[in-house]
Amino acid sequence: MRLQDKYKELRNTPIALLATNFYNFETLEGVLQAAVQCKSPIILQLTRSSIEYMGLPMAFQMARTAINHHGVKAWIHLDHGDSYELVAQCLDEGFDSVMIDASEKPFFENISVTQKVVALARKYDACVEAELGYVAKLGQSTEKEGFTMPEEASRFVDETGVDALAVAIGTSHGFYKKEPRLDLERLSNIREVTNAALVLHGGSGVPHATLREAIGRGICKINLATEIKNIFMKTLKAKLENESEIDLRKVFPVAIDAVTMLVAEKLKVVNNK
Ligand code: 13P
Repeated sequence: MRLQDKYKELRNTPIALLATNFYNFETLEGVLQAAVQCKSPIILQLTRSSIEYMGLPMAFQMARTAINHHGVKAWIHLDHGDSYELVAQCLDEGFDSVMIDASEKPFFENISVTQKVVALARKYDACVEAELGYVAKLGQSTEKEGFTMPEEASRFVDETGVDALAVAIGTSHGFYKKEPRLDLERLSNIREVTNAALVLHGGSGVPHATLREAIGRGICKINLATEIKNIFMKTLKAKLENESEIDLRKVFPVAIDAVTMLVAEKLKVVNNK
């Protein structure tokens, strides 16, 4: 099933998809084992930096092979595509879905770049996500205002034809200094005026009750990255502290398992269990 059809199926249900970033074989494996355990579909995301780290064919083929190996339903998605060229490369490689993030550009520029990406992605039958509003990226200020405005969201989706729209309602990427307070009223208002699947970026550190509430109000996809990196590295550091083992195949599995446990918890939330 195409991701864009899955999104339509999820509309008006209390269920969303979890989109997990992966960085190497181990985090990919951890995430997919959770999907197997929970018998849940999942989205696997790659950012430009992960693509540059692993190389595009390696990252993509490894994910595709792992999906087939585990026999789970999963889609491969480009997270925060920052240029038409990168999107085009990923579509050529076989990605199921791409995000074009021109959210820092003026409204009409965001529309025009996104329109170009949608036109290209249609040729590949791929799904497109765009972003409207200010969701702080790692290292950016979380103080800056810039929540998505419902009227703009409606116009943006109508003019671009995107399948999914990332909205700014109070989340940011990375860890929070204080508990995030989401503007759920705004989310409901955006839901009322647009048919695109709504996406919540910055899922790490958002309380589970808040995630459930956001799904109830129309979020179809929740992105999770920082918590995956964090649990993987923390577990690995703790394991290595009193360890002289040099066989990395004996060291990594605890960190893989920790990722699996984390993602399984999140999958329960998005699947309303
Ligand atoms: P976190 O790193 O805050 O989980 O955000 C992930 C994300 O939104 C990726 O696009």
